[in-house]
Amino acid sequence: MKGLVLAGGTGSRLRPITYSMAKQLVPVANKPIIEYGLEDLVAAGVTEVGIVISPQTGDDIRTAVRSCSDRIGFNPTFVLQDEPLGLAHALKTALPFVDGDDCLMYLGDNLVKGGVADVVRDFETHHPNCQIMLSPVDNPSSFGVADLAEDGSIRHLVEKPAVPPSNLALVGVYLFDGTISEAVESIEPSARGELEITDAIQYLVDHGRTVRASIVSGWWKDTGTKDDLLAAQHLVIGELDGKIEGEVIDSEVRGEVRVGRGSRIVDSRLVGPVVIGEDVQVTRSTIGPEASIGDGSDIADAAVEASIVMDGSTVLGWKIRSSILGHNTKLHGAGPAGFVEMTLGEQSEVLGD
Ligand code: TTP
Repeated sequence: MKGLVLAGGTGSRLRPITYSMAKQLVPVANKPIIEYGLEDLVAAGVTEVGIVISPQTGDDIRTAVRSCSDRIGFNPTFVLQDEPLGLAHALKTALPFVDGDDCLMYLGDNLVKGGVADVVRDFETHHPNCQIMLSPVDNPSSFGVADLAEDGSIRHLVEKPAVPPSNLALVGVYLFDGTISEAVESIEPSARGELEITDAIQYLVDHGRTVRASIVSGWWKDTGTKDDLLAAQHLVIGELDGKIEGEVIDSEVRGEVRVGRGSRIVDSRLVGPVVIGEDVQVTRSTIGPEASIGDGSDIADAAVEASIVMDGSTVLGWKIRSSILGHNTKLHGAGPAGFVEMTLGEQSEVLGD
């Protein structure tokens, strides 16, 4: 079985972060989101992996994927999708790589607790033409949604329905056999101009192919928006064990806390779960709960709660909560007295009073 990780797209819902970086590279608990999916593929025994990239962010994705492929244990092949014309278009573009084999397609901005090894085993045991995973969600209108018959078979799939037939969203993990190529070659663009993966799977249903659906047992997170990203970090970070490799001086540490090599925590409070990268300075500050601080950052006289702070950032005299700071952002001067919430793209600078 081949893997196909979709890492193109525009990431428009995650601006301004995605003006300058690929959303699949945004760190969740200090690890780029795409690495979680790649680890899941390898854990399921899938090591030949196609990565769909866009002209805009493809070089960054290539570099990031190459830098982790040996460690995780897979062989990447990059597939350029000229325009973000939909998930089924990405798959269609990658058909020469898939070459008629079974294929596990994984959206590069999704996180699935417990990975995909069980669903791969299920697919290999029953060998349907397609297998999808479903998860109950509160806002089905934002997703592909499945309408199931009483026996659990799929009656109908619909993309982002105004009136959802159920609350069962399609998780961003799909397994196909070679019959999917006919489906993606046959469907037409939807009203929003995309080749929809739901339409391709509906094509299989309509042509009498077997499509199995299973409900995910753990959580699943699509990280398309800022709130989704912070929610994903909330889920991931809560499962990490603490490990202090840096220095913690005159500071209080509560709960599960990671402090990377070369970091110095002085006169501060770390309230787990917290992940602090390497070579980070934290002085007279409170970090956590649920905060991640990227490598080389400098936090002083500040508080950072439920936030993602990327590498090289400086937070001096500010209290931030539910925030995302891109690489090398700078908050300095005197911040407001209370907590503030913000999303800043990389290299941004905010100067308080
Ligand atoms: P989406 O989140 O559906 O789309 P997007 O990345 O364009 O984001 P937005 O809606 O905020 O503009 O994409 C899910 C995943 O699939 C994500 O990792 C990007 C990838 N993708 C492609 O590789 N090619 C595509 O044509 C599309 C639409 C998405």
